[in-house]
Amino acid sequence: MNTQTEAFLTDKNQAQVEAGWAEVGKSHPHESAILHVLGEARYTDDIPELQGTLHAALGLSSKAHARILSMNFDAVKNACGVVAVYTAKDIPGTNDCGPIIHDDPILSAGLVEYVGQPIFIVVADTHDNARRAVRKAEIVYEELPAILTPQEAKKAQSFVVPPMHLQRGDAQQAFERSAHRVKGELYVGGQEQFYLEGQISYAIPKEDRGMLVLCSTQHPSEMQHVVAHALGVHSHNIVVECRRMGGGFGGKESQSALWAAAAAISAAHLKRPVKLRADRDDDMMVTGKRHCFHYEYEVGHDDQGRIIAAKVEMVSRAGFSADLSAPVATRAVCHFDNTYYLGDVDILAMCGKTNTQSNTAFRGFGGPQGAIAIEYIIDEIARNLNQDALDIRKINFYGRNDAEGRNITQYGQKVVDNIIHELVAELEVSSDYQQRRADIKAFNAHSPVLKKGLAFTPVKFGIAFNVTHLNQAGALVHIYTDGSVLVNHGGCEMGQGVNTKVCQVVAHELGLNLDQVRATATDTSKVANTSATAASTGADLNGKAAQNAAHTLRQRLAEFAVKTYGGEQEAVRFAADLVSVNGLDIPFEALVQKAYLARVQLWSDGFYATPGLHWDPKTMSGNPFSYFAYGASVSEVIVDTLTGEWKLLRADALYDAGNSLNPAIDIGQVEGAFIQGMGWLTTEELWWNKGGKLMTHAPSTYKIPAISDCPEDFRVSLYQNSNVQDSIHRSKAVGEPPLLLPFSVFFAIRDAIASVGDYRYNPPLNAPATSEAILLAINAVEDLAAADIASGL
Ligand code: MTE
Ligand code: HPA
Ligand code: MOS
Repeated sequence: MNTQTEAFLTDKNQAQVEAGWAEVGKSHPHESAILHVLGEARYTDDIPELQGTLHAALGLSSKAHARILSMNFDAVKNACGVVAVYTAKDIPGTNDCGPIIHDDPILSAGLVEYVGQPIFIVVADTHDNARRAVRKAEIVYEELPAILTPQEAKKAQSFVVPPMHLQRGDAQQAFERSAHRVKGELYVGGQEQFYLEGQISYAIPKEDRGMLVLCSTQHPSEMQHVVAHALGVHSHNIVVECRRMGGGFGGKESQSALWAAAAAISAAHLKRPVKLRADRDDDMMVTGKRHCFHYEYEVGHDDQGRIIAAKVEMVSRAGFSADLSAPVATRAVCHFDNTYYLGDVDILAMCGKTNTQSNTAFRGFGGPQGAIAIEYIIDEIARNLNQDALDIRKINFYGRNDAEGRNITQYGQKVVDNIIHELVAELEVSSDYQQRRADIKAFNAHSPVLKKGLAFTPVKFGIAFNVTHLNQAGALVHIYTDGSVLVNHGGCEMGQGVNTKVCQVVAHELGLNLDQVRATATDTSKVANTSATAASTGADLNGKAAQNAAHTLRQRLAEFAVKTYGGEQEAVRFAADLVSVNGLDIPFEALVQKAYLARVQLWSDGFYATPGLHWDPKTMSGNPFSYFAYGASVSEVIVDTLTGEWKLLRADALYDAGNSLNPAIDIGQVEGAFIQGMGWLTTEELWWNKGGKLMTHAPSTYKIPAISDCPEDFRVSLYQNSNVQDSIHRSKAVGEPPLLLPFSVFFAIRDAIASVGDYRYNPPLNAPATSEAILLAINAVEDLAAADIASGL
């Protein structure tokens, strides 16, 4: 792979810049990289089991919508190794694991609402015995009519939360004034998170109603609440710990709760440790995924392709319960603009209640689903006007400032950091876009079967939880007397490198080399009331909180140093494991030892709450985001028009990570998100049969990208920029926004298909653009062209 990595150094601390010393902005390896490659990094299932540990498995509904008439567990109880069977009536507290609205039973209480819904728990001596026993249950159902698709849900007005409506100006009236109108429909499928480590919880009873839950989760505090409620005890009885996940991608933000609760309920009854590890098929049958969306849109534009008004009705497949569908839909509404000023706007967003898994967070959290619709529309406008889509994109970009105007989003937030013009200009040159566009047209003219396609797509992504109060974080920093430092913060490590970044921030603040600082497991008994590690805010929030704690310690140490060695407190410098005070360079460790003997407190807490955020859900307006992250990408594909097979030949991506805290990790995040987003839009297809059973519930039928699907020529770089907001060292979040970069892959495929009809027709192409979908779109374009020829056009 030809990956170009552009590393650069940044540093806000003037003294350390002078000394040439910095720990932020450096491409340090991931804090667990060596453990990862040695196979020594411990995931929940690797933790040595305590004596007496039992294993649980879940019994699942085989019907999409039904009343349970009777359940017979005789054969289950008699099966080898079975210790207990629990149903909803065995839950000591509340039978609910819903994160916002309490419509999410842990175990069905008589009604099942999707194929895969958990009905009972079997606890046995081994994992295998528990799974075998589960199948022996006899359950009699009375079937009810099921709604399976978002379109059906919309028709039936069946929603998990009330529809949301955002209006600016009068789109209908603006359409009347528009020279051109584009109207159509689009369907974009969902996506399985496919974390490599599945859902898992290990519940260990402690004395006096206490419970320790070792859980693979992005949200230990929420797990603590759900377990406490399910057991009918207080939060202070429950400790939830997560050292790391083997990936979460949003799938462990709320939906680790079911597994934590089921393990804890079993462990509480039996007073023995119980582990619940989901088999891959069960994981995919039980848990929610990215929401698929169906859109009906209408846009008015002028002769140049400038959008005057846009109207869209979007309905998502929420599944049987609300889960996070409302904030996901809100983010879709707030990303329908992507990088564009849309004039008068009318957006209706609905969360369709369907008899399928309850869909949940997935990298981008509705943002990708909002933005892809406008990109599809712009793609159509360009083809209708016979223009390059990049030109139509550019003339619709937000203005750079008040003087240029066109810089207010549909939800009322002013875009004050717009760098998309410059970023796109840089990529247009570095990717050689114009020349390659001409080359591809020439290639296609002489290649009847293999067709190439090219597309250039931009990204703007709002950073902050769109639920304002979640934008807070806490941290604890301990300095031990040997000068080593331990950090605990609310963020969870899922491979994205939040611990590495937070440790870099703390090391930088205390003037220590990174190997002096370690991060511990996330633990609800250390920092309380944490938010999920989500919304790409892990490093932003926890980095600031940890910096705050480290800063307090630095102040204390500086004060003590001046007391001991004289000089000015403002002049004390911390860099490269040394403290410079009054002309002396004291080793950090020596100063710490002295401070300990002088009874200086050597640990501190820290806190951060993102300023300037507000949101009114009624009017769908406010300032939901702290800042925007930008990016753009260019993809070139080749499509076999006889088979629908295709290949990504080259991809260029430029991403705005601000003053990157760790360029190597950020480049890795961009690469990973790009390939993951490409999978969503191309090969990953979720398919339910007529009975509502998910048939693509294993890697045999659900196709995530493999290494061979990565482009041989993959050029990822970071755009040199500094956040205008006072974010942690003026960096920008990187976790989710690059998932939108591979829109260019989808539109490059659409471009290649369009070449079949000499670029005169808009290929009707839904996502995922599987080979089958590509062939159908090619046939549709050929039919349109044939019809025109027949009618003499
Ligand atoms: N990277 C890896 N390797 N594994 C993951 O599970 N999750 C993504 C992103 N990058 C994920 C990842 C998602 S959905 C989010 S919200 C962010 O990481 C969360 O971490 P951060 O806020 O610390 O960037
Ligand atoms: N992202 C992830 N999780 C969330 C969000 C968000 O924007 N809002 C509420 N929960
Ligand atoms: Mo990420 S979808 O916000 O966990």
